[in-house]
Amino acid sequence: MCGIVGYIGHREAYPIIIKGLQRLEYRGYDSAGIALYDGTDINLAKTKGKVEDLKSLSETSISLNGSLGIGHTRWATHGVPNHVNSHPHYSNSGDLVIIHNGIIENYESIKKELTKRGYVFESDTDTEVLINLIEEVKKKEDVKLGKAVQIALNQVVGAYAIAVFDRQKPDEIVVAKLGSPLAIGIGDNEFFVASDASPFIEFTNNAVYLEDEEMAIIRLGKEIKLRKIQNDAIAYPMVQELQLNLEEIEKGGYDHFMLKEIYEQPRAIKDTFRGRLRVAEGMVKMAGVDQNIEKFMNAKRIIIVACGTSWHAGLVAEYIFENFARIPVEVEYASEFRYRNPVITRDDIIIAISQSGETADTLAAIKLAKERDAFVFGVCNVVGSTIAREAHAGAYTHAGPEIGVASTKAFTTQITVLTLLALKLAKQKGELSDSKFHELLTEMENIPAKVELALESNPLIEIIAEAYKDSNNCLYLGRGYNFPVALEGALKLKEISYIHAEGYPAAEMKHGPIALIDEQMPVIVIATNNGHYEKVVSNIQEIKSRNGRIIAVVTEGDQQVRELADHVVEVPDTIESLSPLLTTIPLQLLSYHIAVMRNCNVDQPRNLAKSVTVE
Ligand code: G6P
Repeated sequence: MCGIVGYIGHREAYPIIIKGLQRLEYRGYDSAGIALYDGTDINLAKTKGKVEDLKSLSETSISLNGSLGIGHTRWATHGVPNHVNSHPHYSNSGDLVIIHNGIIENYESIKKELTKRGYVFESDTDTEVLINLIEEVKKKEDVKLGKAVQIALNQVVGAYAIAVFDRQKPDEIVVAKLGSPLAIGIGDNEFFVASDASPFIEFTNNAVYLEDEEMAIIRLGKEIKLRKIQNDAIAYPMVQELQLNLEEIEKGGYDHFMLKEIYEQPRAIKDTFRGRLRVAEGMVKMAGVDQNIEKFMNAKRIIIVACGTSWHAGLVAEYIFENFARIPVEVEYASEFRYRNPVITRDDIIIAISQSGETADTLAAIKLAKERDAFVFGVCNVVGSTIAREAHAGAYTHAGPEIGVASTKAFTTQITVLTLLALKLAKQKGELSDSKFHELLTEMENIPAKVELALESNPLIEIIAEAYKDSNNCLYLGRGYNFPVALEGALKLKEISYIHAEGYPAAEMKHGPIALIDEQMPVIVIATNNGHYEKVVSNIQEIKSRNGRIIAVVTEGDQQVRELADHVVEVPDTIESLSPLLTTIPLQLLSYHIAVMRNCNVDQPRNLAKSVTVE
């Protein structure tokens, strides 16, 4: 995820763009850049770091004049965060300049083609490929910028919100959207372009939100022209009157980043799939695995190291790897692993899972594994983070920045990446038939829509939260794939509402926790239809006979548990191994609402840090 801002009009563009980028920093903050047209030339500054760093750099290194400009705050997807990979990017002639939020999946083949035609590339980005493709089309077809953008976009596969301008024609900005957001603010003979309305809300309340596959040519002195990217059909811009304040917009209208991130999960999971899950071709493509396939095929064991929520994702992955790929897996707390002289061999694969890619214990565990010649595969969200760089290979989760300290979308996207990896290995090892593989891939593709449905239980969960917000203790139970989800549910509640909570494998209840159950004790039980259902139902009966209060997460249509439980939350039906992606949603929402009702600081809970870079 990245943030983009553009301006064309009669004011100085620089302050608008810088302030706009600061407001969009929630979308990404590993590097930033700006390009301003001063009447004769383009002045461009970009840097690794935050918008504040860009501000210092621009104010000391370039002319800040001009009323046309574009800016970008980046959350890297291709290429590590550094100066060269930061946006904006020039075309080879230096005339065209672009900012881009999204991923161009087929950029490598386009790059090869353009290289043959003499184009050179400074960066590792897909964006620099796109701007040169636009330049090539513009020259070859002898068309205007708008047409060239349209033709070029018809050749790319992926997601984008882009803004482009041409030094030779500095009275227009061309924008286009597919998959990433893009809003145009309409002022009095001035226009603003941004990933959301926060950069322009103090200048105008009138905005047009582009739909997917739409582009617009924004020209001074003219009305905005919207056009479909695929054909030339003209779309009529729907101008909306915004009634939002800044704060609301930055959180996308949600009260907290955590809630926003919970709701982002369908999109985040799709971004994790993008380019990898290829149902029609019957394959999973993961460059970091393909390049090291021998290592994976010969692995005698996988050791997963992680902390916190990432460790819970590792536990889910253990079930998936062992069930499908038939590779033995151990899941270790990085902090324990690093100090206990573990047996590691060169036939082991270490998978390090970390949202931030900076957790000190996970990093130390990787270093230890590398010293002992194991192959290290990183699963990180932050591109270019230390763990991503230290690992021999890896796969990013592409969840976008996670701001809320309590991890939500990082968890589901980590499970998604690890599932893709497990299925890929299972197929390659001959452990999965073509039809089973196809069935699993198809169902994975359905997951984002099913997460969307699971989110619909939010109002019901709010009512349940009201009933239990004053509890002192809470027990979470699950079995199989959903045992780690119980652990994660308990962690979420502890972290943000400060209620003591414990997660347990449901059958272990009788070895201890059952002694705690009385009419004060809410017990959250994951009882979906395909994971040891009958056995979990027996556990529920045991709780009921001790007067515990039961909140059950069940598969839609369930009758049996409904008769026993005090509250029932339904999730859509799915394959058992994919169910954690759905069952975790109500648990995230429950802890969120309870924390809000207890007046806790949801996004920044006491004593906790988003990233623990010390021991
Ligand atoms: C902290 C965060 C957790 C996170 C854990 C591991 O405790 O508060 O949300 O799960 O660190 O972080 P990582 O970035 O390595 O996933």
